[in-house]
Amino acid sequence: MSSAAATPATEVILPGTVDPDGLQVRTRHLPPPATGQVLLRMDATGVSFAEQQMRRGKYYDQPPFPFVPGYDVVGTVVATGPGVDPALTGRRFAAVTKTGAWASLLHLDAADLVPVPDGVTAAAAETVAVNGVTAWQMLHRTAHVPHGATIVVLGANGGVGSTLVQLARHAGMTVIGTASTRHHDTVRRLGATPVDYRDPAVYRRIRDLAPHGVDAVFDHVGGPALQDSWRLLRRGGVLVSYGTAATKDEDGNSRLPVLKLFARLALWNLLPNGRSAHFYNFWAGRRRPEAFRARLREDLTQVLALLADGTLTAQVAAEFPLREAAAALALAESRTVAGKVVIVP
Ligand SMILES: NC(=O)c1ccc[n+]([C@@H]2O[C@H](COP(=O)([O-])OP(=O)(O)OC[C@H]3O[C@@H](n4cnc5c(N)ncnc54)[C@H](OP(=O)(O)O)[C@@H]3O)[C@@H](O)[C@H]2O)c1
Repeated sequence: MSSAAATPATEVILPGTVDPDGLQVRTRHLPPPATGQVLLRMDATGVSFAEQQMRRGKYYDQPPFPFVPGYDVVGTVVATGPGVDPALTGRRFAAVTKTGAWASLLHLDAADLVPVPDGVTAAAAETVAVNGVTAWQMLHRTAHVPHGATIVVLGANGGVGSTLVQLARHAGMTVIGTASTRHHDTVRRLGATPVDYRDPAVYRRIRDLAPHGVDAVFDHVGGPALQDSWRLLRRGGVLVSYGTAATKDEDGNSRLPVLKLFARLALWNLLPNGRSAHFYNFWAGRRRPEAFRARLREDLTQVLALLADGTLTAQVAAEFPLREAAAALALAESRTVAGKVVIVP
């Protein structure tokens, strides 16, 4: 076992429902890691859509304020607790934390660490932690779309969307991706045919590209247009719903939009039209931690390997130092970026 005395860490705090400039920075002294834990030095973390919801108190599983945000992290082990192989010290890992990663140092369960291949930068690995696992699992564990399928990815410029497009192209699929026009060149470069989501006729334009319907639609927007996503499917097609971005600024209970969504999907699944509707939840199955971790490790390892061999290109929108997390969040919320806003020490 290696150990560390109380170590000063810089942390970003979300104190309550505030604008991005209301984030606070503090220093806290971390004790040595407990049994089964490591002390990880953050090399990269990032802004996910979840933080945009959390700062509004609108995340489905909203943590109580104040807390340190940060959904995922790539870092280097600097100390190990009792029961953890000391040889992990100095090695790089990725982990999905949900909160807590906007910090220079953090404690993590060693069992949650997934090795990052040599040659992959921390910022690049960061772009495929929660986003890569989400995209991989939706494509290969939820939708099960075959080689040669045609799929629609809403928000193809986003963190999850840009990874999903690349994974689908790698799996031999034709991809139609919605994005605002400023991102159409990026979406084309990723291998998808772009369609402007601000065009009122967006769904008609998609149908023009796939007149016989599509095999899968990946929809994180929700709201009334979810019905249009459903209608794009051909017989046997799959709708994978995984968010309610459209309701981010609505007042009221943070769980209600998702619960309403579940009810709609359940109803659609009763229709005898050969289509199916699923809600993807990254955290599903975590009540069985060993199986959950094994699946996450397997999937993230696959995605990191695709990054290492050049199949995936990391989509880094911008990099900010930790102390400028407020600017990172503001940029991510500006709706002008393609890929992931990354935070570095
Ligand atoms: N269910 C799960 O387990 C799970 C896991 C991970 C992520 N997610 C969901 O995945 C989505 C993407 O996350 P991310 O971190 O990749 O976010 P991101 O990088 O901020 O990308 C968001 C994407 O959604 C688009 N968008 C945002 N608000 C929209 C709206 N009101 N209507 C239409 N499009 C909108 C953005 O387009 P512009 O750039 O033009 O604004 C962008 O393409 C989020 O909704 C998140 O909640 C769900």
